[in-house]
Amino acid sequence: LAISPFIATLPKVELHVHIEGTLTPALRWELAHRNNITLPYATFEDLKASYAVTLNHRPELNGRQPGIPTFLEAYFAGCEVLRTEEDFYDLAMAYLRRCAGMNVRYAEPFFDIQAHTRRGVAATAVLGGYLRAQHDAASQFGVRSQWILCFLRDEPVEKGLEAYVEARPWAAGTVEGGKGLFHAVGLASNAYERPPMLFEEGYALAKADGLHVTMHCDFGQKDTHEHMHEAIFQVCDGQGSERIDHGLDAEDREELWQGLVDRKIGLTLCPHAYHRRTATDVLFPKIRRLRDKGVKICINSDDPTLMHDVWIDGNMQKIYTYCGFSKAEMVHLARNAVDMCWAEDDVKNAIY
Ligand code: HPA
Ligand code: ZN
Repeated sequence: LAISPFIATLPKVELHVHIEGTLTPALRWELAHRNNITLPYATFEDLKASYAVTLNHRPELNGRQPGIPTFLEAYFAGCEVLRTEEDFYDLAMAYLRRCAGMNVRYAEPFFDIQAHTRRGVAATAVLGGYLRAQHDAASQFGVRSQWILCFLRDEPVEKGLEAYVEARPWAAGTVEGGKGLFHAVGLASNAYERPPMLFEEGYALAKADGLHVTMHCDFGQKDTHEHMHEAIFQVCDGQGSERIDHGLDAEDREELWQGLVDRKIGLTLCPHAYHRRTATDVLFPKIRRLRDKGVKICINSDDPTLMHDVWIDGNMQKIYTYCGFSKAEMVHLARNAVDMCWAEDDVKNAIY
């Protein structure tokens, strides 16, 4: 699907992108060499080819196939080459430079600190690299960012709490002495039998520090409606999550979509992530119905390099083409992301 000049030039804000999911095969190859890591691919072409197919994270649904990883296996395998502060800096700068090229003016990328500390990488390397990129991208490319620390929901809750405490000096200025890298916490990785309320204590810690709260409710998950219900009505003492990442299944039940509307909880959708495994004439009418019911949605990329290199512009093009939205409606969707973002007002005003 070619990206039209209208979509290419539309000013954008991206609120759902995992920085580790923006690692390109080219940078992964380069970092492997820099760090003397042997990848299980003989050539760069072989490495690139490995990105074509991943299995659903529940292989029982579509069968284990030898040599083909699940999505999350591929995602965490990519992380292996990230070792030093410079690696994390280069990863973040590559994404933010690309943002400038797509007219993404502000982003709130997720990062999985536990994916690195559990491999023995120092938290300071991760946080320091991203912090330096946050500053340099703002001054060099004019792309501002505020980051979101994700708990890995398939790890023990205590590990997430430890990660948060260790990262806390890099949080927003609402934390005394905070360096200002991240202003929110999220919940990512495998949701299988890991409902949001398990992490209640983590959200409470973040809330008490003045941070924002969001969480993944992946499309088509087991117990997806129950997870959505917790996220909307129970998280943070019944106030609900401030945003939900994905959450498309709310369209199935009035109680859920009405809850999103009443509580003004927006959804950060990633159309291509669903389109990989869902028919066009099922998916896009569902997105349209959700919007028509009054749920606030914005359009994002999720893990572009692991999802056929479809970035935020490609995701917007899909919505423009397959939902049949007018240009005015697309501008409205782009503005939703500005409304949903957690930037300070002066930054918001500078974005648009
Ligand atoms: N789903 C859940 N967690 C994730 C994903 C995803 O697609 N990408 C990175 N973390
Ligand atoms: Zn995601």
